[in-house]
Amino acid sequence: MNAVLPNNKSPHQQSSTKEHLLKTQPSPSRHRSSATLPLAYQKGYQDFYGRDFIVTPDVLIPRPETEQIIDAVLTLAGKPYLPGVKPTPRQLPPNPTIIDIGTGSGCIAITLKKELPSATIYATDISENALKIAQKNAKTHGASIITIISHLLENVKQTPVPDLITANLPYVDKNWDWLDRSALSHEPSLALYAEDNGLALIKQLITQSATRQIKYLVLEADPCQHQSIITYAKTANYTLIKIRGFALTLSHNN
Ligand SMILES: C[S@@+](CC[C@H](N)C(=O)[O-])C[C@H]1O[C@@H](n2cnc3c(N)ncnc32)[C@H](O)[C@@H]1O
Repeated sequence: MNAVLPNNKSPHQQSSTKEHLLKTQPSPSRHRSSATLPLAYQKGYQDFYGRDFIVTPDVLIPRPETEQIIDAVLTLAGKPYLPGVKPTPRQLPPNPTIIDIGTGSGCIAITLKKELPSATIYATDISENALKIAQKNAKTHGASIITIISHLLENVKQTPVPDLITANLPYVDKNWDWLDRSALSHEPSLALYAEDNGLALIKQLITQSATRQIKYLVLEADPCQHQSIITYAKTANYTLIKIRGFALTLSHNN
């Protein structure tokens, strides 16, 4: 199963959160009502990058667009993520230290450990229940990751300085009237919504990362938020190096 390369399904072009959420969530036209538990919660698992992850209503159901974070990290690691894709020169050290912030089910952290076995991977979340699911998934996949309960980087030691941070933090703005919020009603609000047009946590993380001079950030956000993030990141000395679908790769100019 793990040998199956993930994004044979195709990289997810610049479609919006709306399209993705509607694709991955039950909609009234396909289900009797939004009271229906999403299929992933009914089954108890969801595929992510070719592996099954245990999911419960304590964690967000992994979305296909989040696989773009993995592709972005593999690109930095100089590893081809699809057959035939030419690897780019490696920008990360051979044994990188990576912190996944807001790990939820652990899908990003665990996938990175499987794809880059020599990496040291930390996974944080503010939700203890989410971390318990991440730990179960890590055990199932035989992936050794270190979990830390933390608001962003707060409880993460200053050293070693990680080479890279990945984060799919909550970025849905409660005022997005085009979003069918009832379709998200079974997922934890803590995993979905953020203040300041959905950017409050992402901005805080950029600021914290700049203080620690962390070189690379790979962040997920809706494409409609990308320009605001790039502009904010500049004030913290981060420059955009790549956009891949929902994933922004930023590099600190230190
Ligand atoms: C959008 S979900 C992403 C989950 C998983 N990484 C994924 O991609 O499927 C966001 C996660 O961030 C966590 N979170 C929310 N606020 C946080 C904070 N201040 N610090 C750390 N994690 C937070 C939530 O508990 C949730 O698990």
